[in-house]
Amino acid sequence: MIYLDNGATTYPKPKSVIASVTRAMTEFGANAGRGAYKMAVDTTEQIYLCRKTVADFFGCPSSENIIFTYNCTMALNIAIKGLAVRGAHFVISDLEHNAVLRPLEKLSADGVCSYSIAKVEYDEQKTLENFENALRSNTVAIICTGASNVFGIIPPLKALSRLAHKNGSLFIVDSAQTAGVLPINMTDDGIDILCCAGHKGLMGPTGTGILIFACDIPLNTIIEGGTGSNSALAVQPSVLPDRFESGTPNIPGIIGLHRGIEFVNEAGAKNICRHEIKLIKYLQRNLENSRRIKLYTDFFDSSQNLAPILSFNIDGMHSEQTAAILAESGIAVRAGLHCAPLAHRKMNTEDTGTVRICPSFFTKKSDIDFVIKSIRKIAN
Ligand code: ALA
Repeated sequence: MIYLDNGATTYPKPKSVIASVTRAMTEFGANAGRGAYKMAVDTTEQIYLCRKTVADFFGCPSSENIIFTYNCTMALNIAIKGLAVRGAHFVISDLEHNAVLRPLEKLSADGVCSYSIAKVEYDEQKTLENFENALRSNTVAIICTGASNVFGIIPPLKALSRLAHKNGSLFIVDSAQTAGVLPINMTDDGIDILCCAGHKGLMGPTGTGILIFACDIPLNTIIEGGTGSNSALAVQPSVLPDRFESGTPNIPGIIGLHRGIEFVNEAGAKNICRHEIKLIKYLQRNLENSRRIKLYTDFFDSSQNLAPILSFNIDGMHSEQTAAILAESGIAVRAGLHCAPLAHRKMNTEDTGTVRICPSFFTKKSDIDFVIKSIRKIAN
């Protein structure tokens, strides 16, 4: 199989990640933060070490501000619902995933809060104007994707952060597609809350996500329960990370995630991104001259700031049909709307969806050669 669905989850995982998950299940089999015997203490330490690595990786000042979740959607829900006091307003981009859109739509249907959608354009100034026009005095946060999960479009995050802060709003980034692929430093980038998938660019197992606070922001909790701390109290502890981490965590997942981030550090996020962009450019060069193939972004146009994700369609075919034929040749890609209807509406691809190609560090040029040949064959 040629796996090019790394936007959904990366595959294969580094061998060291698989080994660390096995080790976690054999050597660190106790619960974390709950016992005083050796294996429980060792397990707790492993979780702490991962928190520390995550904090260093994203330029977060404190490892206590790292909250482990089960995916990026959960991290976004905790952030959004925790901020959604009655009357609050949010501004989101027109590239957001359903992980942002659906919680806000629900809050809005319940009459709790409202939201506006601002258009991302290739002209940064126009994008900023669109966001500025959408801001209100009661806007609690701008929420923006680090890169569209369908088209790879990267919004101007630093400038959006300045805009949010000028308005007294927080800046939240959904880095599902960018963590581990593009450089992220919360302090330098002005990100107040970063939501990550652990199982995509960070190379961890599925069932891992991370919510990171630049500082202790007083969000309401949406999940309460046992934390292993202050157990005599009926109320949820207010300290981080306990406030947002109730119940037994995904210990093998977190230990595997730790190893995944170390893998990214060793390979170098810059090298990973360079490799993936090189493959995508090669793919584009070899597909762009076919009249029957439509590409939705241009990796050679310097005004387009893009992550290594390429969407295409073949004239007269639904994306699912193209993906099904590719699957018969052993090529794994995701087609349809990619849980991102806003992005498809923006690019006029709601009816057909698109076929999405996402390489990883493990994708070879020979894989892309085979994909080019297969796509051309369908188009011809
Ligand atoms: N959000 C993931 C994707 O884009 C699952 O495929």
